[in-house]
Amino acid sequence: MTEPEPWWRDAVIYQVYPRSFADSDGDGVGDLGGVRAHLRHLADLGVDAIWMSPWYPSPMADAGYDVADFRDVDPVFGTLAEAETLVAEAHELGIRTIVDIVPNHVSSAHAWFREALADPDSPMRELFWFRPPSPDMPTDWVGEFGGTTWTRTPDGSWYLHLFTPEQPDLNWDHPVVKAEFEDILRFWFDRGVDGIRIDSAALLFKDRSLPPVVDGQPHPFHDRDELHDVYRAWRRVADSYPGERALIGEVWLPDASRFAKYLRPDELHAAFNFDFLGCAWDAELMRACIDRTLDAHRAVGAPTTWVLSNHDVTRHVTRYGRADTTFSFENNLDGTPVDLELGTRRARAAALLSLSLPGAAYVYQGEELGLWENEAIPPEQMQDPMYARRGHSRDGCRVPLPWSGDSPPFGFSTGSPWLPQPPEWKDLTVEAQAGDPSSMLALYTSAIALRPRSSPFSWTDLGAGVLAYCRGSSFACVLNLSSAPVPLPSFREVLIASNPLDGDLLPPDTAVWLRLSSS
Ligand code: GLC
Repeated sequence: MTEPEPWWRDAVIYQVYPRSFADSDGDGVGDLGGVRAHLRHLADLGVDAIWMSPWYPSPMADAGYDVADFRDVDPVFGTLAEAETLVAEAHELGIRTIVDIVPNHVSSAHAWFREALADPDSPMRELFWFRPPSPDMPTDWVGEFGGTTWTRTPDGSWYLHLFTPEQPDLNWDHPVVKAEFEDILRFWFDRGVDGIRIDSAALLFKDRSLPPVVDGQPHPFHDRDELHDVYRAWRRVADSYPGERALIGEVWLPDASRFAKYLRPDELHAAFNFDFLGCAWDAELMRACIDRTLDAHRAVGAPTTWVLSNHDVTRHVTRYGRADTTFSFENNLDGTPVDLELGTRRARAAALLSLSLPGAAYVYQGEELGLWENEAIPPEQMQDPMYARRGHSRDGCRVPLPWSGDSPPFGFSTGSPWLPQPPEWKDLTVEAQAGDPSSMLALYTSAIALRPRSSPFSWTDLGAGVLAYCRGSSFACVLNLSSAPVPLPSFREVLIASNPLDGDLLPPDTAVWLRLSSS
């Protein structure tokens, strides 16, 4: 008998962005009561796990990624006891829970930072990156949201923050910081969580001499070698618990071999595939990206992951409806023309792609409904701190989900949602899609139920503009990225098509799963 694969190798993991999932108390902000009330939706969709974006006490300078206390829950979301109940209720439905840990920085409201700020001689300053008063900033580093990375304290000192001034960076050279995060992992594993999503996992360490960023030299704060010992220590913590607890890194790195180092057998279990997320809707580029991904992961024995969207990037219905279908923070495409019908058609095909490639697939809340980016949020309602610094806001992908009804707030809340929902989403509510076999929700539900899990992957060549591969000997996925219909190979049965077929022809921007005659 062979052992079953650990769950994290081929799971479907659904990202819950709690502020925008469902609101149970009418304040317009989603909460844990809202998640609990809709766990059925997730069970019916068939997901294996939920990843909860931060639910900790926070001043919300960066929507909860500014954490004031890693061992509690913000009152806007609920209580710690309710988080424990949520984990238990999800388990009863066969759904695992992943929590989001943010090790690079804390909130400026965190007790450590408040103590450090209050007294220039406080030893707590050692836990951060304080530098003595001087007329100039210690470096001219550019922050992750753009802008400078140092803020002056009332006593004239400087402190470092790679994100907003409300997110002071921790000093990971300090043993107290290392011990604290191992303890935080234990805190959540003790409460039954099944995994940890590690925020900004390739940051954390800084070159102590604070050198400038110079091309071709080791980066002073990205992807430093010291990180790997931390993740080895975290892996030992995860492995000391029963039940296959997983560590999943948010690692944005262009170099596939540097990326794969985080996934060596004694480090993280998995990491998000942002190369795939940013890839253009183009057969050759997609195939090259998939090959790069498979090669890099094979080299370290780690499972691949497939990600189309998350709370930081433009929703893929919108991306795939633009002339330029790539995504990167450097290339701001906000406001460029979007064909939502085309984007939706491609998003349907992309779902069949990401759910049939080998490895784990991530679904960002609302993509199962075919939501698009809300590009019509008035500037004065923008909440994302990136907006002021880069002119691009992530709010458009964070808009509260439409559950039911014909007009906002679409059953999300009895109050006024914290970001406006497009009225056109009346056709995309869960209620409107339930029972409609041609809906995005039906497509995701059937695809998750039918997806191939562990069978081996191999490419099949069906010509330019077409991606085709088998999983084992009886399953094939064919995706037409060209502008003309293409003939399908011989098959026994169509399992799912993202759009209706044209006889035995596969129309453009359409994907199909086929059962093959396995003789
Ligand atoms: C990660 C999060 C993002 C957050 C940033 C700072 O990239 O996904 O939402 O703003 O880290 O914590």
